[in-house]
Amino acid sequence: MGINSKILIIDFGSQYTQLIARKIRESKVYCEIYPYNSPLSKIKQYNANAIILSGGPSSVYDKNAPIISKDLFKLNVPFLGICYGMQIMAHLLGGEVKPAKNREYGHSKLEILRKSSLLKGCGKSSLVWMSHGDVIVKIPTGFKITAQTETCDTAAFEYPEKKFYGLQFHPEVVHTECGTDILNNFLFKISGVKGDWELEDFISDKVGEIRKKTGGAKAICALSGGVDSTVAAVITDRAIGGNLKCIFVDNGLLRESEAKSVMKYYKENLSLNVKSVNASALFLKELKGVTDPERKRKIIGRLFIKIFEKEAKKIKGVNFLVQGTLYPDVIESVKVFGASSVIKSHHNVGGLPKKLNLKLIEPLRELFKDEVRVIGKKLGIPEEIINRQPFPGPGLAIRIIGAVDKKNLDILRKADAIVTQEIKAAGLYDKIWQSFPVLVPVKTVGVMGDKRSYESVVAIRAVTSADGMTADFAKLDYDILRACSSRIISEIKGVNRVVYDITSKPPSTIEWE
Ligand code: XMP
Repeated sequence: MGINSKILIIDFGSQYTQLIARKIRESKVYCEIYPYNSPLSKIKQYNANAIILSGGPSSVYDKNAPIISKDLFKLNVPFLGICYGMQIMAHLLGGEVKPAKNREYGHSKLEILRKSSLLKGCGKSSLVWMSHGDVIVKIPTGFKITAQTETCDTAAFEYPEKKFYGLQFHPEVVHTECGTDILNNFLFKISGVKGDWELEDFISDKVGEIRKKTGGAKAICALSGGVDSTVAAVITDRAIGGNLKCIFVDNGLLRESEAKSVMKYYKENLSLNVKSVNASALFLKELKGVTDPERKRKIIGRLFIKIFEKEAKKIKGVNFLVQGTLYPDVIESVKVFGASSVIKSHHNVGGLPKKLNLKLIEPLRELFKDEVRVIGKKLGIPEEIINRQPFPGPGLAIRIIGAVDKKNLDILRKADAIVTQEIKAAGLYDKIWQSFPVLVPVKTVGVMGDKRSYESVVAIRAVTSADGMTADFAKLDYDILRACSSRIISEIKGVNRVVYDITSKPPSTIEWE
């Protein structure tokens, strides 16, 4: 039960750090990510069974390089340094790192030079993924080189007596053929941890924790129809039942029949205590004539909070607020000098006000999205909620370019239903990140029957993505696009042209506003 073993990942700003964590959790070992500049006392307190030093974009000899205390290596636990993590190990323990003649990026052939418990299962030679500009030119005393590539003499090294290991390549990415074996060797053979962290245990632990924390007090939760808030509410409901009051704000910017069907699920399938507040008219009134995307977002966010507060105040004796915060929102992002920082915009309508003065319950704070989906399934949440494509908090308002009104919303809702039906019929709904139409109220000329038409444009946006941070347009079959186009034109009045958005992110964003 619970967490028996824990790995700590120290983050030096690599784009792959979260991937390391997910791979470790896939092996049923609990882990957390701390930024490199966390105080040593905090790291000690975490009491890790082993520590992994992530990669990062810096060079150890840079003036502003992210450096850790050398004392970290006195903790007497196994260490695995990956890429920059390996270089910092070499640098701090008496080795030397220098710029490489050629930057190595992409596939390389790894050749094992000597027996190593870390590299067991890799075969004499295998493909690995490299991404580095520096190399270790002198290894610290006590270390041995265990593998090389054509261009990198120190592709892996180790000091097994001290359980210090380093890899110049990335075992966490799929392109490293024996990456999972290597990570599992580090976890199970070298660090001796057990793969016994079960998501079922997680649920029952959380239920107990919430019960203890609330001690009979009430909690409120804003449900959005999305997977995160739903799973957070269902876990809390298991803990405190009738003391959880949920509020669903219908802002009138949802998809066709969405408010109704989501409420039905909440009440009938999940037996949640939920009140639906229809605030469509108010949202439409405040949005009238507003064309600026940021203003739209602000108005919607502010109104949502206002309505939620008003409803929350009607419930007496509430001390807690349940939120579906996920681990990627909690991890302190490491900003490294010289790194091309990833811009993550937090535009979550669920960010509720501090002035409510409620203590937070965030049952999903330690979880990644895929883990939340697994838990959701275990909790019996319907597939339709679990596998829903992401839907932005400001809803259809940011998919209508320019002013939002009832007429445009109705057009977009119909188009959305058609695109969703066609994508589902083609078996693609779960395979792509998002697929939706955007209403572009620019009129163009068409001909329908024998008559001239002069009507709006609908753009279809469909993207593949791993996390929404970057995306590529989906290479949809022409037949699917044709089906969407002909149905949209024939079934919806006010549209006479359909186009497909073929930009990736960057340079575009996924949503048009
Ligand atoms: P962009 O348009 O920034 O979107 O490329 C990235 C992902 O975030 C979603 N998105 C939002 N989600 N509130 C949300 O909860 C928002 O305000 C918001 N804006 C964009 C978008 O649908 C995509 O999945």
